[in-house]
Amino acid sequence: MVNIIHYLHAVIRRYQPSDRATVETVFRDGMMEHINPAFMYAMTRPLHIAVSLFFYIGAYVMAGQSVVLALVSGGAWIGLVYFCCFEFYTGYVRARLNTDMQDIPSYYLSNPDNCFWVAEAEIHGRPQVLGMVAVEGKSDLGSEGKKYGELYRMIVSSSCRRSGLGLQLAKTAEDFCRERHFSKIELSTSSTQRAAVALYFRLGFKLVLMHTQSDFIVLTDVLFFF
Ligand SMILES: CC(C)(COP(=O)(O)OP(=O)(O)OC[C@H]1O[C@@H](n2cnc3c(N)ncnc32)[C@H](O)[C@@H]1OP(=O)(O)O)[C@@H](O)C(=O)NCCC(=O)NCCS
Repeated sequence: MVNIIHYLHAVIRRYQPSDRATVETVFRDGMMEHINPAFMYAMTRPLHIAVSLFFYIGAYVMAGQSVVLALVSGGAWIGLVYFCCFEFYTGYVRARLNTDMQDIPSYYLSNPDNCFWVAEAEIHGRPQVLGMVAVEGKSDLGSEGKKYGELYRMIVSSSCRRSGLGLQLAKTAEDFCRERHFSKIELSTSSTQRAAVALYFRLGFKLVLMHTQSDFIVLTDVLFFF
């Protein structure tokens, strides 16, 4: 999508129930855009290249040098990989909309250690929700009852990226964690979410853990702490 905004006067405020429909749309769009990068990532892994070749060449040889069957067989495999990427993200969106995001006021706003913010700006004279972020306070088992904040739902609408909204949202979450004397901020993301990884490194987050979440579509999870 074309970036329509070059300079934004956004207000970061707490979520209100009237934001629900827009927040769900921005969240869904922000997650679904990762399907194609995850698919491209999966298809460039050596294992998947080998399996693709196996399906193309294997079907060609076994089906009496039929180019059509080779294309159908390889295409079916590639389609399956795409479907898995699609299901991964749609499943994630479904799961979140049925858990913490089903009732944001009671999940995030009724507990003083949690919060959910939205970024709102005037677009063509009307206030519009353009991004969001959430923090959940958690007990740090390793540090004598101290708490840390986990960052969730960092998303900025694709129409207003690179306008500083991500930084503003992250800083709001960071200030909240500081005020509560949390020991650190943690978050998980995947290496295919390149903009998010760049944003977190820019903020000073450090990589502490890297692991593959699923051998099949080969998504790499990255855990940061501040
Ligand atoms: C990650 C995301 C929230 C960043 O929002 P944003 O408003 O575009 O970010 P900002 O404009 O505040 O960018 C701040 C800095 O982050 C880095 N950054 C952000 N997007 C980047 C990109 N596409 N490529 C490289 N660096 C990027 C840059 O250092 C940037 O500073 P600069 O613009 O002065 O160079 C947004 O891209 C997004 O919603 N992505 C999809 C959802 C997602 O992956 N969320 C993360 C879940 S863990």
